[in-house]
Amino acid sequence: MASESITSVLKEKRQFKPKKEFAASAHIKSMAEYQRLYKKAEKDPEKFWGDLSKELHWFKPWKKVLQWKLPYAKWFVGGKTNVSYNCLDRHLDTPRKNKAAIIWESESGETRTYTYQQLHREVCRFANVLKGLGIVQGDRVTVYLPMIPELAITLLACARIGATHSVVFAGFSASALRDRINDAGAKLVVTADGGYRKGEVVLLKEKVDEALKEAPSAQKVVVVQRASTPVSMQMERDVWWHDLMKGVSGQCPAAPIDSEHPLFTLYTSGTTGKPKGIVHSTAGYLLGAMITARWIFDLKETDTYWCTADIGWVTGHSYILYGILANGVTTVMYEGAPTYPQPDRLWEIVAKHKVNVFYTAPTAIRALIKLGKEWPEKHDLSSLRLLGTVGEPINPEAWIWYHEVIGKKQCPIVDTWWQTETGAIMITPLPGAIPSKPGSATLPFPGISADVVDRSGKSVPANVGGYLVIKKPWPSMLRGIWGDPERYEKQYWLDIPGAYFTGDGARRDRDGYFWVMGRVDDVINVAGHRLGTMEIESALVSHPVVAEAAVVGRPDDIKGTGIAAFVTLKMGNTPDDGLKETLKKHVGTVIGAIARPDEIRFAEALPKTRSGKIMRRLLRDIAAGVETVGDTTTLEDLSVLARLRQDDES
Ligand code: WTA
Repeated sequence: MASESITSVLKEKRQFKPKKEFAASAHIKSMAEYQRLYKKAEKDPEKFWGDLSKELHWFKPWKKVLQWKLPYAKWFVGGKTNVSYNCLDRHLDTPRKNKAAIIWESESGETRTYTYQQLHREVCRFANVLKGLGIVQGDRVTVYLPMIPELAITLLACARIGATHSVVFAGFSASALRDRINDAGAKLVVTADGGYRKGEVVLLKEKVDEALKEAPSAQKVVVVQRASTPVSMQMERDVWWHDLMKGVSGQCPAAPIDSEHPLFTLYTSGTTGKPKGIVHSTAGYLLGAMITARWIFDLKETDTYWCTADIGWVTGHSYILYGILANGVTTVMYEGAPTYPQPDRLWEIVAKHKVNVFYTAPTAIRALIKLGKEWPEKHDLSSLRLLGTVGEPINPEAWIWYHEVIGKKQCPIVDTWWQTETGAIMITPLPGAIPSKPGSATLPFPGISADVVDRSGKSVPANVGGYLVIKKPWPSMLRGIWGDPERYEKQYWLDIPGAYFTGDGARRDRDGYFWVMGRVDDVINVAGHRLGTMEIESALVSHPVVAEAAVVGRPDDIKGTGIAAFVTLKMGNTPDDGLKETLKKHVGTVIGAIARPDEIRFAEALPKTRSGKIMRRLLRDIAAGVETVGDTTTLEDLSVLARLRQDDES
């Protein structure tokens, strides 16, 4: 972090107020109600969270809401609860007993539905299997599964007996898996023979075999038969899921688990390349996921809710599984690729299951914009009543497309800012209360004291960019980095005195709305002005031919840093020099000469992580004409890099 503030250039003026009919039946019905809640939580956060915690089932009530010794928090100290019990058992003596908990859609179009009672039985059976394999409270279980119901069942079964799960996204390589198993010291791996992706079978068991050559802690492997491809089963070590489940009892009482017991670790990439195992708690995490899901997605008993993320990411943990099931709502889980077999797969699923609440990522929205609106227009999307986004700043033009083409101008959009580390959504509209502005995540959730500050921790004035921090502990916050307290303190707590530093740059406007400008590592310093890449990208995307843009700095003799923009075009547009000039001019007009790119490069695709975030670090190397030395294991499609380099030479 070099200088004090970041220059903000995005000028977005549009505003969308909650519709009266929506607000009337929403959980939080007006701005006044939001403000009341916010103030109440600010005045006495322990009372606020303490009261809400009564919504959970407790085996033993807590003694103290919060024990805070910066940077270590303990919430609901002395209490005992169980996440699996809260997500399943407590619905069973209500009318939810035979309600769909999970509607699973396979890539080939088959549907499997689990009612709460059926899911409970499967979870109990697998929890008994885990016990039989010698897994006890505190053991770590690495989960390397495709998006199949067994993934949800495994996590809930771990939670039931107090084993800490560690999901590794099934697209990761054997070496990434090996490092994560070793870091966690996992005793067991749960995997499948293979998983379906775009009609092909991805061989998972093979990767586990490879990983386990150098991961001695894992003594057992449970294998789900999903793809019926031949696999080699190692005697003693490898066991089939279906063999283990035969004849196992569907009764397994949920163990009373300490509030602070680690429910899971989840690895996220750091700047150094060594993955960080983010640790989450039991009670605080569940409370955060449950309350945010209820108020932000405005969940109703009758809703069919669908989040398109993979459970390999935190979004899937909090908002496919735990936050949704804790509310007793029906969650849709989709196995496959979003554009398979055709670009309208998502909309086909929305229409088929009459999805009411739909949550996805800006990267998916931009990809769908590129494919054209004829695909969503083929389907009846009238069941939708609320839309959400997460993962990156959403460019205002993409927001408007989502609003008009998918939401038909009828659905509020919740642009939710949060992180793996925060466990739950932190800055977001409450859809019946807070007017939205395209590109802004709007206001902090009650109980979250977010601020934009300078290096010394002082709040910066309105419309000045700075560092996004959280000033008080919150229940679903990370409890540390697995096995590395030093890194935890250094990474999040040393940069800004007394506050949790998110790593993001942001500004607040005069209404107090937060505009996240991206990771501060991505900020570019042009002639002494620090510019957030997101704002220049949004200016590019506001041009009708542009589908997606990524902006990075590159060395410039005169200015120190010049602006290089990588641009992908919507279908049917031809890249040429004239268009390059037009786009440079366009940015100049939209935000001013300071942000005008020095160079535009057209690209077929941009390098992204597997969760869809643009890897600007790699683009910086390409723009500077140097070889990439950093870690590329999280890159989704390596060929994209090669193609970008070829374009460079041509
Ligand atoms: C970015 C995903 C702007 C941000 C839940 C954050 C966002 C990082 C938004 C965390 C949003 C996420 N607007 N930026 N609505 N949501 N981000 O850990 O840079 O995969 O720090 O968690 O994504 O990514 P993670």
